Amino acid sequence: MNNALTAPSLCGAFRNRFKIGAAITGRMTDDPDYRALIRRHFSSITAENGMKPEKLLDREATLQKGDPIRPAFHFSPADQMLSFARENEIAVRFHTLAWHNQTPRWFFAKNWDNAPDAPLAAPEVMLARLEAYIQGVMEHVNSQYPGTVYAWDVVNEAIEPDQGGPGCYRTKSLWYQTLGESFVPAAFRAARKHQAPGQKLFYNDYSTFVPAKKEALTALLQKLRADNLVDGMGMQAHLQWDKMDIAACEQAARAFGNLGLTLHITEMDIHCPFRDEAHQAQLAQCYRDYFDMLLRLNREGYDVESVSFWGVTDADTWLTYFRKEGSWPLLFTGDKDVKPAFDAVLEAAKRRI
Ligand code: XIL
Repeated sequence: MNNALTAPSLCGAFRNRFKIGAAITGRMTDDPDYRALIRRHFSSITAENGMKPEKLLDREATLQKGDPIRPAFHFSPADQMLSFARENEIAVRFHTLAWHNQTPRWFFAKNWDNAPDAPLAAPEVMLARLEAYIQGVMEHVNSQYPGTVYAWDVVNEAIEPDQGGPGCYRTKSLWYQTLGESFVPAAFRAARKHQAPGQKLFYNDYSTFVPAKKEALTALLQKLRADNLVDGMGMQAHLQWDKMDIAACEQAARAFGNLGLTLHITEMDIHCPFRDEAHQAQLAQCYRDYFDMLLRLNREGYDVESVSFWGVTDADTWLTYFRKEGSWPLLFTGDKDVKPAFDAVLEAAKRRI
């Protein structure tokens, strides 16, 4: 097998098509082998967890500050990654501003109360906190690391048809419970105010290929687009090797693209609980078909700008925990060798589609 550190550069092969990215952790930026691998193969990075609200919010300092609206931040983990990106001229997708997960409950509570059943803050307080949070993060990043972030995931996973509700909003989200569906345009309005020139604002979600979800997302994006609040759609692409429906993925991408949105594949992995040669060859085929589809869309004029994998090697995939079984879903082995899936993606770049 070919070692990842000497194999042809993946992002180099896609240079004229789209950025190739990966979700990374702080541990990786401290590790010389990971640093070299990331530099070689990726032209975009996303913090797998390091830029989420739970990582940026500092409750102790917020309480000390005594401001009921503006929280205090600790930016050092995010800064470490932003510095790595800047030093290596790698573009950053910022993930994520408004999300129901990995945002501490106290952020939604009256008086920043940490008790699990503390009363939620009033809607006008939450609206002001949402704006203050977005302003605080965007001002920090754009003043300290100008030109580093090219895309912001402004709202993540607001829609979930399984939860019913008008418009299919995820009703259990504390953003929804405090502000209703208005939190979505409010977040985008705040981000518009504080974005730097050239940055694009994204809505990001999973299972975008499921017809009911695609419809609900299209309706939401259409409204946001009409008010010029959104620039791009992030399709997470957490897929499974035995349940691939590329045609459905393509239809969703076309639906979002037809709204005039830039398309990012933001969190690609293809769950495969088998590491043997035959299954890994099938995984490679899944990646080949998916990339062929993206390249075809690009050729037709759809603005597929960036494709990111959710993790770097099979040793650091989140799927092992999420699926509660082994998973070998990515392009590099835990030993940082390239896999058949790597060759398949590389070859897709060379095919004239
Ligand atoms: C996941 C991370 O990979 C895990 O390490 C963490 O424990 C939970 O979150 N959709 C998203 C990502 O938008 O932020 C999630 O990341 C995966 C699903």
